[in-house]
Amino acid sequence: IESRRSYHEKVLDHYSRPRNVGSMPKNDADVGTGLVGAPACGDVMKLQIRVDPADNTISEVKFKTFGCGSAIASSSYLTELVRGMTLEDAAKIQNTEIAKELCLPPVKLHCSMLAEDAIKSAISNYYSKNPNAKVSDLGGT
Ligand code: FES
Ligand code: FES
Repeated sequence: IESRRSYHEKVLDHYSRPRNVGSMPKNDADVGTGLVGAPACGDVMKLQIRVDPADNTISEVKFKTFGCGSAIASSSYLTELVRGMTLEDAAKIQNTEIAKELCLPPVKLHCSMLAEDAIKSAISNYYSKNPNAKVSDLGGT
């Protein structure tokens, strides 16, 4: 019973107190913007990341989601998950991780897919603005 209750609380907590809502200037060179939609329901998610070019990590995250409670909770959780991550790691996030953390039911899986699409889209936007960032030289120069 305890765990059944806590999964609902996680969704409700993120839904009622979403983290990192807002936006950043999309023309900033160090900001990547992802804008994605879910064809199934028409919900839309905008996710932005600010990247520290020194180590290719995400220093700041903002989102705005026009969608259902599960989509808002998924994006809120995602912002906490990716802050501090390298772009390489953030690009590997699967929607199933988000759905599992929030215990989303099958009918709400596409809501977490929106969050996965949004972070991938934000990362590719950042790379398109900073083509050299992709060359990660871990050995240093
Ligand atoms: Fe628990 Fe939606 S509130 S899965
Ligand atoms: Fe479509 Fe949640 S119902 S994103």
